[in-house]
Amino acid sequence: MQPTERLLAGPPLDGRAEPLSRHHARLGSLPPLSPDQMVGALEATGLLGRGGAGFPVGRKWRAILEQQGGAAPVVVANGAEGEPESAKDRVLMTHRPHLVIDGAVLAARTLGADRVELYLGREHTQAVAAMRAAVEERPAHDRRLLHIVEAPIGYVAGESTAVVHYVNSKDARPTTTPPRMSERGVRNRPTLVQNVESLAQAALIARHGPDWFRERGRGANRGTALVTIAGPVRHEGVAEIELGTPLAELVEIAGGLTGTPQAVLVGGYFGTWAPIEAAWSLPLEPASLQAAGLTFGCGLVRLLDARSCGVDYSARIMDFLAAGSALQCGPCKFGLADLAGASGRVAAFDARPTDLYDIDRWTGLVTGRGACRHPDGAAQQMGTAMAVFADDFASHVHRRRCLASGAMIGARR
Ligand SMILES: Cc1cc2nc3c(=O)[nH]c(=O)nc-3n(C[C@H](O)[C@H](O)[C@H](O)COP(=O)(O)O)c2cc1C
Ligand code: SF4
Repeated sequence: MQPTERLLAGPPLDGRAEPLSRHHARLGSLPPLSPDQMVGALEATGLLGRGGAGFPVGRKWRAILEQQGGAAPVVVANGAEGEPESAKDRVLMTHRPHLVIDGAVLAARTLGADRVELYLGREHTQAVAAMRAAVEERPAHDRRLLHIVEAPIGYVAGESTAVVHYVNSKDARPTTTPPRMSERGVRNRPTLVQNVESLAQAALIARHGPDWFRERGRGANRGTALVTIAGPVRHEGVAEIELGTPLAELVEIAGGLTGTPQAVLVGGYFGTWAPIEAAWSLPLEPASLQAAGLTFGCGLVRLLDARSCGVDYSARIMDFLAAGSALQCGPCKFGLADLAGASGRVAAFDARPTDLYDIDRWTGLVTGRGACRHPDGAAQQMGTAMAVFADDFASHVHRRRCLASGAMIGARR
């Protein structure tokens, strides 16, 4: 089975960027749409942001358009991709930098912005180099608009208020809103922060229209999406799929299984775990996943092999998220550290009597209490892990034995 290719159509993905000449020969230039036509087209597609939160892209552009009359807006292309197991944004920027830049230029043109910040995760060196070279290839009027900002390493550095904070003052900690970013963000101007894949999708929609966009896809949300598949499959990596493609088909696209998965984490480290039997035929599409209590998030699909310990995996994620918080708000300062401590003890067969009860309680307590959604995402991952690996959590505590790996007390993490 072949993956669907729109964003990734064109030359092979061999680590080299598609040059501007080839990009233009393949796709032509951006059509001259009025702001209303462009935003209307985005609204008609129902395109949801691909950075994780899944907010409607058209609605975001419309909110900025309605701010007209004040200072010129700023567009920020979010290519931080701080999600450790996700690679879709860096693959896109490395191979199709001009599609991302087209999307950012299009947003600027549509919204009347005179500045575009390309906010790129500095650890993604290949992607940064491709984007830098692509900016140099653009005509002078685009180059005047485009500014590259290398984002610091860190999970929260990609959160939208942290992005704006960093662009403004080189501090990548999230800030509390209001005012809303559509009113005041970079340099106190109305600001659009949009994931790089969302912008690339917009660049295709401008060229081909909303009907073309909706021709692909099998659920309520149409079009294609980039996903990263990891775990026991022949070809781990990034694929472009029709939204609504069942997990089983994605596994086929990835060359089939090389092991026996027991569970899947969908949506990234803020995502949700599901047992493999429940998820196998589920359509990978935000509305269908939501109906099943799961999230599409940033499109990460991580299969966990039957012999790998889900308790340990989720505890390690919690540890990573606790360490990666900005430590500004109560739930991150205390809650996430406590959750990481308790889940780490359970994973290491060293649980205190109240650890399971406390993990369950704290996941509820930290939710909705931070300046950003970091604690909510962390709690979601932990809460769904507790449900999916319930027997193993209990076995780790009461029998000091792992049901998946067979490890016992004395095993070191
Ligand atoms: C802790 C945290 C980290 C995030 N990291 C990223 C990121 O690396 N890249 C990204 O595009 N969005 C990230 N987001 C989502 C952004 O806040 C924002 O919703 C997104 O960039 C908006 O673009 P979109 O609507 O096109 O998805 C993160 C959110 C949170 C709460
Ligand atoms: S909730 Fe956590 S990550 Fe978000 S701003 Fe507060 S301390 Fe930072």
